[in-house]
Amino acid sequence: KRKIKAALLGLGTVGTGVYKLIHRREDVMERTIGAELEISKILVHDLKKTREGVDASLLTNCWQEILEDEEIQIVIEVMGGIEPARSMILDALHAGKHVVTANKDLVAEYGRELLDAAEEGKCDFLFEAAVAGGIPIIRPLKQCLAGNDISEVIGIVNGTTNYILTKMFEENMSFEEALAKATELGYAEADPTADVEGLDAGRKVAIMASIAFHSRVVFQDVYTEGITKITSADIAYAKEFDSVIKLLGVAHNTESGIEVGVYPMLINKEHPLASVRDSFNAVFVHGDAVDDAMFYGRGAGELPTASAVLGDVIDVARDIEYQCTGRISCTCYKELPIKAFDD
Ligand code: NDP
Ligand code: HSE
Repeated sequence: KRKIKAALLGLGTVGTGVYKLIHRREDVMERTIGAELEISKILVHDLKKTREGVDASLLTNCWQEILEDEEIQIVIEVMGGIEPARSMILDALHAGKHVVTANKDLVAEYGRELLDAAEEGKCDFLFEAAVAGGIPIIRPLKQCLAGNDISEVIGIVNGTTNYILTKMFEENMSFEEALAKATELGYAEADPTADVEGLDAGRKVAIMASIAFHSRVVFQDVYTEGITKITSADIAYAKEFDSVIKLLGVAHNTESGIEVGVYPMLINKEHPLASVRDSFNAVFVHGDAVDDAMFYGRGAGELPTASAVLGDVIDVARDIEYQCTGRISCTCYKELPIKAFDD
């Protein structure tokens, strides 16, 4: 039986989900890919941590061991943060290994550098899980909707804040209690400031805008405002007007430039976005040919995110099997002006 070997970098919420899902889908893997998919090494920080259901012999805290293993063709980065993730991904791509990541911080800031490195080495570099967890949105923007001139991408793209707002509205839960529950459920970032201050959503908006508008939008271009200033008085006011408050990510491609931002907004209960509850996300896309399209699903959490990661891994494995790697990662773009958000 032919085997494709992969290494997991990180075994937290997402890494554990990927590990579980690969084993759960073992029987179908051979049929979908044409070869067996095996996680042969797992990089973690703390080797002493108890990790139920995981083959401990796969664990290592030495990156070189993975980098120098020529049998490992795919690196799945689910550690998070900028460094050492960025250097490890660059090392892997330069060594001809394909990379799948869920790391929006990294893609929003260094996506171009990483895509260039992938293109240079004819490697795949995929990041479907970096935006809206389990919802397929990167591939639709890049491939399925590629025949469109996309002018607008709007949505709820952070599961933690949507969960917090839902609990504050529906159960009068305090902000702190709702955030603690979102963290317990594995939705929040290692530093949840990124969620509640709108930074995580801002990173996702930068990634979506770059792909949708074939341009280069980085996190620093995005206006961000989070939900930390929302008070119980704001919630009471919203209820009085039959509305809810949602944290929206917005990207417009206008004649005078690209406009990108994240901010809380009052939305009437009848609006489809008002019914997006808990950790669910939703993204609206407007294209000149397709008109309006909407994508909805779980935006965070162990298995929904693992679903997106594994989809990418299967795509890479198929590319390896059919000897067409690098095909889906290569991108052309043009620098477009970025408009100040309140212009
Ligand atoms: P966790 O904090 O749960 O897990 C991080 C894992 O990476 C841990 O296993 C940790 O090791 C390991 N790790 C961190 N730094 C190092 C290092 N320097 N060397 C070796 N191992 C390291 O994070 P998540 O699983 O929640 O998130 C991972 C990534 O996925 C992030 O980029 C996040 O933004 C993204 N993401 C998360 C989603 C979610 O719902 N949680 C959804 C979509 C994307 P150890 O176990 O030893 O501490
Ligand atoms: N912390 C992120 C969220 C994880 O809550 O949406 C998914 O990207």
